[in-house]
Amino acid sequence: MYSIGQLVSCFELTAELGRGGWGIVYAARHVHLGTAHALKIVHAHERTVRLRALREARIQARLLHPQVLRATDAFERDQQVIIVFDLVEGPTLAHRLGQGPLTLVEAEAIAAALAGGVAFLHHRRIVHRDIKPSNILLEPDLAPPVCRLGDFGIARDLDEPDAVEITEPDAVVGTPRYMAPERLRGRRGVDPSLDVYSLGCVLYEVFTGHRPFPDGDLAHQASLREDESYVAPRARRPEIDPWVDRTLQACMRGDPRRRLPDAQVLVEVLAGRIDPGRWARGSKARMERGITLPPLGDAPLTTQPLSPGGPVTPSSQR
Ligand SMILES: Nc1ncnc2c1ncn2[C@@H]1O[C@H](COP(=O)(O)OP(=O)(O)O)[C@@H](O)[C@H]1O
Ligand SMILES: [Mg+2]
Repeated sequence: MYSIGQLVSCFELTAELGRGGWGIVYAARHVHLGTAHALKIVHAHERTVRLRALREARIQARLLHPQVLRATDAFERDQQVIIVFDLVEGPTLAHRLGQGPLTLVEAEAIAAALAGGVAFLHHRRIVHRDIKPSNILLEPDLAPPVCRLGDFGIARDLDEPDAVEITEPDAVVGTPRYMAPERLRGRRGVDPSLDVYSLGCVLYEVFTGHRPFPDGDLAHQASLREDESYVAPRARRPEIDPWVDRTLQACMRGDPRRRLPDAQVLVEVLAGRIDPGRWARGSKARMERGITLPPLGDAPLTTQPLSPGGPVTPSSQR
């Protein structure tokens, strides 16, 4: 419906970048400023779709973090919501994973960066709910890679009161392949540990080059995840650091009470400041209080992280 070269407000469309469930994403150039952008054009015939798109724009406009894709504008036109993002020239992580295995240095950089970006979301009480390789964009030609998380289409602001009404028409929204078992089972609660689970699955693939679970029907996928029936990362690739192996497994625990509670904790674990085994037996206190991190120092570290390269430093903190 749009053609390349067409003007949409002040933006000239230069290429089609992707198509998804809600609309089409184009590369575009601001005709006055000369800046490069991505325009996500959402067909918003239904009120819920319109509200959801505007919420996506609002959330991404206020999250300023190097690992989070920024929205700079949003407007409505002919029953469409048009969201303007910074343009990321590189491939998606999905595309990169399809080209062959990443080095462990690359994998560690992506792990630290993604964990840092999602920790920022969780700190701002946003749960993304759709973390997957096609929603992660890589800046081109940078070594180690720099990634940016996008597509907040089904993200939830834990403080926004109308959130349930506009995101829950479907029983299961998001992508089953990277989804926590409790969501596959249709549990409605929103908790940052959902994102931790998805991050675990994505990083498993980043480190090993394999997906942890085969695709299949939702109930079967849920059982595989609840049983934690995947090949341990180090069994796939023995050079993976034991600390990383334990960290990925702590993200992918089937029982959310035994999983790392949020990405802020994941950053601490990757940096070697918290033992990933801390939540292994579950925490009654955490169940009662939500995601609160237990006081530091009550579980001494037993393993040194990431030798010989040293701890992963979140690149988001540069
Ligand atoms: N800012 C951007 N820069 C470059 N490519 C983008 C950008 N935003 C989205 N894309 C491309 O468009 C695709 C779909 O965008 P996404 O926001 O994930 O929409 P959907 O909700 O349709 O999945 C992405 O997988 C990516 O290939
Ligand atoms: Mg997407």
